[in-house]
Amino acid sequence: MNCLECVIPAPFLPLTHSSDSRPIILGIESSCDETAAAVVASGKTILSSVVSSQIDIHRKFGGVVPELASREHLRQIVPVVREALEQASVGLADLDAVAVTQGPGLVGALLVGITYGKALASGLGKALISVNHLEGHIHAVFLEAHCESRQPKLPAMCLIVSGGHTILYSVDREAASDDQASEFGPPTRFTYSRIGGTRDDAAGEAYDKVARMLSLGYPGGPVIDQLAADGNPEAVKFNDPKMRGTPYDFSFSGIKTAMLYHLRRHPEFEAEIAERKQALARGERQAAQLRPLCSAATLDLIASFQSAVVTNLVTRSLGAAEQFRTKSVLVSGGVAANRQLRRTFEEEAQKRWLEVFFPSRQLSTDNAAMIAAAAYPKYVAKDFADGSLNAEPNLPLA
Ligand code: KG4
Ligand code: ZN
Repeated sequence: MNCLECVIPAPFLPLTHSSDSRPIILGIESSCDETAAAVVASGKTILSSVVSSQIDIHRKFGGVVPELASREHLRQIVPVVREALEQASVGLADLDAVAVTQGPGLVGALLVGITYGKALASGLGKALISVNHLEGHIHAVFLEAHCESRQPKLPAMCLIVSGGHTILYSVDREAASDDQASEFGPPTRFTYSRIGGTRDDAAGEAYDKVARMLSLGYPGGPVIDQLAADGNPEAVKFNDPKMRGTPYDFSFSGIKTAMLYHLRRHPEFEAEIAERKQALARGERQAAQLRPLCSAATLDLIASFQSAVVTNLVTRSLGAAEQFRTKSVLVSGGVAANRQLRRTFEEEAQKRWLEVFFPSRQLSTDNAAMIAAAAYPKYVAKDFADGSLNAEPNLPLA
């Protein structure tokens, strides 16, 4: 690891920030394949949010390679933090705290952010705050809502759906105790209960694996999202997985395996899959470039796959919201960017008199603004970490 002098970015001119923009928290996120830093004021105003994606590095492997991810985080962390401070016009002296993702995630990747954040906080004499990545995704929804001045009513049912997670939590406001009152206003600390989750693959993982089978590039979600619009979602039947136990668990490996068998039973797909593979090798990765290389049958297959995943996610999440009588539904994580998922959630939630909230696309995928926002109530409660903070690859939220 670098010495402190190398770790701390060049100081910028200190600015004066009034107390209503305090605390100013620098968030750092490095749990998977995005190195991110953001500056958030008073838990709700994003002064900057910088994300350096490693997609180009992992693309040829069809998924995130942990060792490469750690090395790239090491390379990116200093410039990304520097850029976030610069864009926010904030100097190191202006910061009130440094917040880092503690887990869940890849251990080597997490360690880069944690070690850097620890060194920075300790060198500057600032508070260090540890944040659960999943809590960050939930706060992304509230952060977006702050920007739109439309706050979700609590309790809420929250679906976190990404390449690494598919998990349902009920979210409520923790009764604020007197000792949490502070000059920064009332803290919004939440309590979480785990209602269900995937028993095998995460939904985003299923998107990525199916995209790989069909030679649609990596990550698969954005391309499938666009191509699915041109296919018939009822052309191929993917059975809804039947599971014992909680009705709010998910399973996506069955849909993925059904896709594999479908392709094996229909060798006529092979030629166009090979053609798309060549196109990808030439760097033609956009949906518009791959679209002419997809037959009507492929577009139908893609649309049917997406429809099965979306139905699965929406039915279970709204079923849980009704069962637990929540007042709103929150959807966050990379897959929350999916257009059909958003549309279906909105239509189905409306029928049930539920309001549904999504972060913007930038706040749906991994970012550090959500980490800084989740750190705000902890700052108010003086819930600080110390030098013993370590990465927790399987850190649970509840
Ligand atoms: O939250 P994220 O950026 O990283 C983690 O996995 O934590 O999510 C990335 C995942 C990938 O699996 C990607 O294929 C999926 O989100 N994704 C989408 C869309 N955009 C990204 N899936 C479906 N539709 C999209 N528009
Ligand atoms: Zn994530």
